Amino acid sequence: MKRTHQELWVTVFLSLLRVSAGTEVDETAPKFRAAVYEHVVTMPSDPKENVTRAEALSIMRQNLATYAQQAQAARAQGANIIVFPEDGLYGVAFSRESIQPYLEYIPDPKVETWVPCDEPDRFPNTEVQEELSCMAKNHSIYIVANMGDRQPCHPQVNANCRKDGYFQYNTDVAFDPNGRLVARYHKKNLFFEYQFDEPRQAEVVSFQTPFGRWGMFTCFDILFYSPAVEAVVREGIANIAFPTAWMDALPLLASVQFHSAFARGLGVNFLAANIHWPAYRFKVAASTHLQAWRLSITMHRYPANRD
Ligand SMILES: *[C@@H]1O[C@H](CO)[C@@H](O)[C@H](O)[C@H]1NC(C)=O
Ligand SMILES: *[C@@H]1O[C@H](CO)[C@@H](O)[C@H](O)[C@H]1NC(C)=O
Repeated sequence: MKRTHQELWVTVFLSLLRVSAGTEVDETAPKFRAAVYEHVVTMPSDPKENVTRAEALSIMRQNLATYAQQAQAARAQGANIIVFPEDGLYGVAFSRESIQPYLEYIPDPKVETWVPCDEPDRFPNTEVQEELSCMAKNHSIYIVANMGDRQPCHPQVNANCRKDGYFQYNTDVAFDPNGRLVARYHKKNLFFEYQFDEPRQAEVVSFQTPFGRWGMFTCFDILFYSPAVEAVVREGIANIAFPTAWMDALPLLASVQFHSAFARGLGVNFLAANIHWPAYRFKVAASTHLQAWRLSITMHRYPANRD
């Protein structure tokens, strides 16, 4: 069953300055414009049901079609980067088995230089990465999205390897405006996500852009030192892309306040993209930034024109 409630677009554009570690604004740092998208996810009717890869792709392509429209709209308004939410391509509440057709092998971008849009057949079953890559390339924009990674492992080599021979990770990916996969982050701090494995080591990942170095982590990660705070204080990363499926809940977990506190407390630009599912309090994409006086926000609300 597809969601029928109103599709909400919240596109927040910020004119940002990259900031140095303190509260000083570096006026010479390049400005950029960013978009986050609060997405109404098309999900399978029963996430615990086993589906084929073709069925999984059909669901993910419906979500990707919306992403493509949004990437285009963001670029048309001058955005250099757009962030999409956690679980935005398939939803939540899968089992370890039922998520499998949604997963793809995501190569390590530190090892492989790969533009999936140009080389779609380099690895098998990478349709989602191909679409995200083409989207970034077509619209000449950095794209950060969240998807599932499936990495083969061998019990003889890795004692933690699962019986089925794979690790399954909740993963953020970043593509540059040429469509190249530039960063991959495996979520460390899982929140009742039995479909996914926790990586042994917290990964601090980043990618370089003409408007500064960007880090990525996801949702529950923000409540832990590693890798969230580590990325900023140890690696000096001053810009964070944060795909999330965040329950906007008082008193302590209100989205905007929480994410804004991280941005202000650590002095970073922070782009949070949430899914839009108000029945479960998943809402409010917050894009927050230390330099609040530089903030300009545009919000659009459109009625749904799909069922
Ligand atoms: C899905 O497949 C797995 C085996 O791959 C099986 O253990 C599980 O019971 C199946 N789930 C459903 C709902 O059919
Ligand atoms: C990218 O552009 C090509 C050529 O115009 C088009 O066929 C394709 O659907 C586009 N893909 C995405 C994901 O935007």
